[in-house]
Amino acid sequence: MPAISKRISGILGNDPSGWEVHFTAKARQEAGEDIVMLSIGDHDRPTPEASVEACVEELRAGHHHYTDLQGIASLRQAMADVTTRSTGVATTLEQIIVAPGGQGALFAAVHAALDPGDHAIVVGPYYATYPGTFRVACASFDVVEALAEDDFQPKRAALEAAKRPETRAVLINSPNNPTGAVYSRETLEGIAGFCRDHDLWLISDEVYWTHTGGEQHLSPLALPGMEERTLVVNSVSKSHGMTGWRVGWMRGPKQVVDDLVNLNLVLTYGLGDFISHAVARALVAGWGVEELTQRYDARRKALISAFDGIRGAQVRGSQGGIYVMLDVSDTFESGEDFAWSLLEAEKIAVTPGEAFGRAAAGHVRISLCQDEQTLAQAASRIRNFVETRAGEAKRQRITGAAS
Ligand SMILES: Cc1ncc(COP(=O)(O)O)c(C=O)c1O
Repeated sequence: MPAISKRISGILGNDPSGWEVHFTAKARQEAGEDIVMLSIGDHDRPTPEASVEACVEELRAGHHHYTDLQGIASLRQAMADVTTRSTGVATTLEQIIVAPGGQGALFAAVHAALDPGDHAIVVGPYYATYPGTFRVACASFDVVEALAEDDFQPKRAALEAAKRPETRAVLINSPNNPTGAVYSRETLEGIAGFCRDHDLWLISDEVYWTHTGGEQHLSPLALPGMEERTLVVNSVSKSHGMTGWRVGWMRGPKQVVDDLVNLNLVLTYGLGDFISHAVARALVAGWGVEELTQRYDARRKALISAFDGIRGAQVRGSQGGIYVMLDVSDTFESGEDFAWSLLEAEKIAVTPGEAFGRAAAGHVRISLCQDEQTLAQAASRIRNFVETRAGEAKRQRITGAAS
């Protein structure tokens, strides 16, 4: 067989993935073990019924054909209206391009912003696909870590320190996966100032914009001088309960969108026809959005209060998003150590923070994508598990000091 290109075979790089706990747990679950999976961000319930019905209707109505490469007009209009609401910046359908999910929109944004050899700054802790998305574009990147002691809010000084002559773009994600941090206005102003002063693109991943923990969502698009340099990534996955539909979009300057139509020409040749019509209706009606927002808010609050006063760990970040971050560094060697031990002892799968960059090391990400009862039981078992270990460590310290 001839060689596979380095571009494709190297997408995952050599980074430790941190996802072994999840894959091991999944394999054991499929083999019949009773394992509580709190390691993945996919909804525990189906897509809202109204969206499913709309899709069946659109399929029966004969929408079986190729679609406009940029996205059918009704879908882009609905996406533009949602973007106007989410960002507070008037958006027209010429500034929208559809993509297969937020991931497809990220791929498009990264390829629009960077040439091979260019450099990007990724703010960490970051979503696991970011590094591979830069590698496939043959661009390099450095991670600027937002620190737990700063509530995972990135600082402009750290961005300045990572800037290189070939830096062209910054990638941020708020509300953040995995930390649940919701970037403050001050944080976003620092990032925006950095991008303006160095003439950089800002790729802003806002797929969790409806999960802000009750705060008004803030988009850097709305800050002065940012409209011409901000590429907003969004999708229906997390907001509308539609992960498996693979529909997302990017909002950017019209010239960027016009050029990206050619990426859709060679990559997807447009989204599915009946799916496009159904998602347009789901976006206009907002089916399920309010319910999903409230459901995750309630679960987040319940989990945080179940960990209230826990000995040996503490909740960090977790203002929004669909995960809770537990700092276990006082009691465990690493997030990995905690996650493997928890899987063995309690048959609960969580994701080690190490999967998301250095600043999340010593933490674990707990997904809220299970029903309330399962989450409550898991929280109480995790609490016992941590406190037992913290108690053992304390006893060892006392014995060690006495001997
Ligand atoms: C931060 C972030 N961005 C983008 C995505 C991609 O989502 P999708 O492609 O389903 O829209 C995810 C999925 O988990 C995510 O967590």
